[in-house]
Amino acid sequence: MNAPDGGPGPSHVAPPVEDPLDRTRFPVDEWRLVETRFDMSDRGTMESLFTVGNGYLGLRGNNSESRDAHVDGTYINGFHETWPISHAEEAYGFARVGQTIVNVPDPKVIRLYVDDEPLQVSVADLLEYERALDFRTGVLSRDLLWRTPGGKRVRIRSSRMVPLGQRHLAVLTFEVTLLDHPASLSISSQLVNRQDEHLESPPGVGPSAGLPVDNGGVNGKNGADPRKAEAFERRVLAPRIHGADPETGRIKLGYRTVDSGMTIGVVADHTLETASNHSMTVHSEDDLAKVIYRIAAEPGIPVRLTKLVSFHTATKVPPRELIDRCERTLDRTREEGVAQQYAAQKAWLAEFWARADVEIPGQPALQQAVRWNLFAVLQASARAEGQGIAAKGVSGSGYGGHYFWDTEIYVMPFLTYTMPWAARNALRFRYSLLASARERARELSQKGALFPWRTINGHEASAYYAAGTAQYHIDADIAYALSQYVGATGDEEFLAREAVDIFVETARLWADLGFWRDESRRTFHIHGVTGPDEYTTVVNDNLYTNVLARFNLRRAARAVWELQRDDPKAYDALVRRTGLTADEPDEWAECAQGMSIPYDEFLGIHPQDAHFLEREMWDLENTPLEKRPLLLNYHPLVIYRFQVLKQADVVLALFLQGEEFTAEQKKADFDYYDPITTGDSTLSAVMQSIMAAEVGYADLALRYFMSALFVDLDDRHNNTAEGIHVASTGGAWTALVCGFGGFRDIGSAAGDQQWQFDPRLPSEWSSLVYRVTLHGTRLRVTVRPDELELYVEHGVRPVTVSVRGTAVTVAPGAPAVVALKHQGPRLEGEPPYPAGIQRADGTVISAIVPSGD
Ligand code: BGC
Repeated sequence: MNAPDGGPGPSHVAPPVEDPLDRTRFPVDEWRLVETRFDMSDRGTMESLFTVGNGYLGLRGNNSESRDAHVDGTYINGFHETWPISHAEEAYGFARVGQTIVNVPDPKVIRLYVDDEPLQVSVADLLEYERALDFRTGVLSRDLLWRTPGGKRVRIRSSRMVPLGQRHLAVLTFEVTLLDHPASLSISSQLVNRQDEHLESPPGVGPSAGLPVDNGGVNGKNGADPRKAEAFERRVLAPRIHGADPETGRIKLGYRTVDSGMTIGVVADHTLETASNHSMTVHSEDDLAKVIYRIAAEPGIPVRLTKLVSFHTATKVPPRELIDRCERTLDRTREEGVAQQYAAQKAWLAEFWARADVEIPGQPALQQAVRWNLFAVLQASARAEGQGIAAKGVSGSGYGGHYFWDTEIYVMPFLTYTMPWAARNALRFRYSLLASARERARELSQKGALFPWRTINGHEASAYYAAGTAQYHIDADIAYALSQYVGATGDEEFLAREAVDIFVETARLWADLGFWRDESRRTFHIHGVTGPDEYTTVVNDNLYTNVLARFNLRRAARAVWELQRDDPKAYDALVRRTGLTADEPDEWAECAQGMSIPYDEFLGIHPQDAHFLEREMWDLENTPLEKRPLLLNYHPLVIYRFQVLKQADVVLALFLQGEEFTAEQKKADFDYYDPITTGDSTLSAVMQSIMAAEVGYADLALRYFMSALFVDLDDRHNNTAEGIHVASTGGAWTALVCGFGGFRDIGSAAGDQQWQFDPRLPSEWSSLVYRVTLHGTRLRVTVRPDELELYVEHGVRPVTVSVRGTAVTVAPGAPAVVALKHQGPRLEGEPPYPAGIQRADGTVISAIVPSGD
């Protein structure tokens, strides 16, 4: 089902609605992702899909024998190495510090030898194979029946879990049972530093001269693919400690990153249970620590190894101290017992699903995919505290482990309405970056704060400013997420005590970046920025940016005025922290009022930017599939010259600020932009689905939704091997809840916030059930073809919402059912390709496929 080129195919030829997975290999199971056959050709994708993680630690789904891997990856959120970015041509203010997530020592390795024959899944004679990730237990399990080259049948059951309740722990098991003959077994359990293993000679722990290179490693196959991480030509992890205890089987490794100075300790404990005779030896060196068991195994007598692993990381703490922390984590875990870890994980997940599950009754294949997506976004974010949420979570090194606006616009809505404490942590992380964001604003000659477009450590890491730093909208995205969080939770205390600074500093940035074009201060413009669509860069008055900046300015002014009125002490503290002056909020309100919102009366649409309509169109319909995605096949300059979109831009603004546009404007804009949107970014389909549903293209909405839902499961962008697409997994929730479920939170800038429901149930579905927590009350929302039911599942306070304009109050024990006459407007087909239409000046917008032929 993949588009052969690696791109998703032209957006307006969205994929069919069928389930794209081979169900003989991936059977439908509503609560598990199950694979019944190992296939080397897509092992990288499977490693990403079968990742277990908790937002801090992530273990890719590699085979524990580790020989067949695409990338034997283990990632810790934010654990990174830095390197000097060297620009071929320097300029003032360019990003200086490259940041790349490190593949931390691999604790997954458990090798098995039967009569000295190694188990290697890709070549083994496997009579049975199953790998499954269980969304309710949080356990990844693998079950094999292997016939050894010597003809012995061996059952191997193994499992992995990264507890959501214990962020520094991983629990691994490996159980071997001979079915018919005795044999000598060896099991080698290891901790391996893989980050540096591609270096040829034993490297010096060198000065950090080495830059990341395309060395056939992480970004080896296609050095021009900006979506991959860099590989290093020098050692990254400088060894500090290693050890192996011959009595207990406890092994350890400790390192410091050469340039960023981060430190890491990892310790593994082993327990072998068997009635067969066995012995143990241990070994450790700089990049390897291992325990080897030799067992004279008898048929029918299981050999069970439990491996408990702990990681601790820091910026300044010496590795020795981190090792102590790991040992304490392990000692405590042993005392509590491993069974307790499984029980706690199950309980954690039961609570998660109670809060966050989205059900599509009667659609088991979709249900499975929905739950995989929700589980994936959970694994990327649950315990990210103190860090951001990376574009790939902790499932891979794609995009270098960086945090983008993906967090605020694609992941935070899910967190805010289902796990608000995790949303608060994500906002607190941004708050912690304010000092460097202020510095960065100064560097770019601006007041206020400018958050980095991509970063791990708070410094801008985007070497390509046109599609990076120029995306000033990151400031408004963060403000938007903050506003949404406060609106949904009522957590005014957090706002007053610290988060309001984010509003102040981002509003300052906009007020300073924009300018009044005329003396009479009628229109306020923002020039030289890039919107979300990265196929058009550094433009004047990008619609998305201006609409979101307007929101940001208004929301900030309201927050400050309210604080001054309601909490003078907190207001005084804010003034002390930020130097706020009394007239600033008035100025912000004025800038918002005058904000230029480009609109073309003749075409009746919002141009994406001031000059967008002057461009000719890229003829997507006639672009060969092998030329997709455009970013891997055309120089940026070629792309920038045309009306062609990588991802939703105006259409995204229509969703996030829906109350600012009429239904007619939304339809006209959607009609214009949808056919010229390539969807080359996975951030696009979810938003196109939502707006297609709202304006009435029901089939198209479902097709976009399906393509988003299976972005990773079906590897639709041919790069899931580098990690899952976290924004799309979070966006899948938004597409369900806001697209088909019709949920909106509006009015927060003006101070009259409302929660609204205007559903769009696909005619193929009998119902849709989702949950949102509003000011502590968890509402279960059931959309049926003819009614919407609201039920308080948890909480004591009543909630008032609006269903298609009618106020409805729902309280515990008093559900509400509202009749629905329809599921919104229904439009046939999809918007036509807009080339050939006339501009206001009478010229025709032509469409071509650029080529040198
Ligand atoms: C998208 C960005 C996104 C980044 C990380 C890019 O392809 O264009 O909007 O933030 O990926 O997911």
